[in-house]
Amino acid sequence: MRRGSVIQLILIGLIAGAICTAVALAIPWLPVAAGKEADRIHFVYWFATVIAIVVFSVVAAVLIYEVWKFRAPPDDFSDGPPTHGHTALEIVWTAIPAVLVTAISIVSAVVLAKNGEAGSNPVVIKVVAQQFAWEFTYSNGKTYGFLTLPEGRHTKLDITSKDVIHSFWVPQLSQKQDAVPGQHNSIVVTPTRTGTFPVICTELCGLGHSIMRSHVTIVSQAQFTKFLKGSGSSTAGPPGQAVFQQNGCGSCHTLQAAGANGKIGPDLDNLVKEAQGAGKPLEAFVRESIENPSAYIAPGYSDLMPHTFKSQIPPAQFDQLVQYLVANANAKK
Ligand code: CUA
Repeated sequence: MRRGSVIQLILIGLIAGAICTAVALAIPWLPVAAGKEADRIHFVYWFATVIAIVVFSVVAAVLIYEVWKFRAPPDDFSDGPPTHGHTALEIVWTAIPAVLVTAISIVSAVVLAKNGEAGSNPVVIKVVAQQFAWEFTYSNGKTYGFLTLPEGRHTKLDITSKDVIHSFWVPQLSQKQDAVPGQHNSIVVTPTRTGTFPVICTELCGLGHSIMRSHVTIVSQAQFTKFLKGSGSSTAGPPGQAVFQQNGCGSCHTLQAAGANGKIGPDLDNLVKEAQGAGKPLEAFVRESIENPSAYIAPGYSDLMPHTFKSQIPPAQFDQLVQYLVANANAKK
């Protein structure tokens, strides 16, 4: 290799390194943490990443230096001098990785143990997954289609599934936990800031996996107490609207009156037309579509809606929901 090409190689290496560093620093790799556990997990990420960056830089620098310093001249076809190992060097390159890997293990083990601590009096919320929706049941016995958490309290999520394996994930809370039928897994979350974040299913669970989403709202402890007492709802609308919101219908359906803009299922402001398409009277159509969602699939949509709302919503509330949707549809005619 000629000297010119070696300098070229070094230049390319330096430029590529600079671009990679710039990209690495510009991209927000991790979401801004919203919980103590997420803070600790992010610390482990960066602890391991910084070690990896330092090791890579040292190895790459030595490599580049040696390519430049010890290259053979173009006319040199001789073998190199015979060498037989270097005991001191070998001890060093075994000891350093051993120390680093042990350090990463200890930091990870401490974080894992700390993240499992729920304290003596955690808030407990039952999380039930099913194709393709989430249900959250609170200490007051009420079930909602979305999650509400108190800021600054240890909260234990007791996670299970009604059908196949799903996985609970809130990126800002960092932890993932499988929802397995017949089994109760748990994670502890201790929110550190208020806000609304996505709840995502992160285990391939069927056709509707990608739409199996809800949201978590972190509120102050006072607001959480209010929420448990039932006055936490911000809606003063008709009773059917509360049923609509409690069951998370808005995460899949659009319904302007309820401020819902889901796009996964048919637009519920359009129910009169849909009923005509199905060839059924409006009220019967609405009732059937919730009780047995597979009975009629609107053109352009898939058979994804859970079949559990019939057993999940008490009959009186079910009627309220149907009447609410019918009245809203008629008003839109
Ligand atoms: Cu549930 Cu993916």
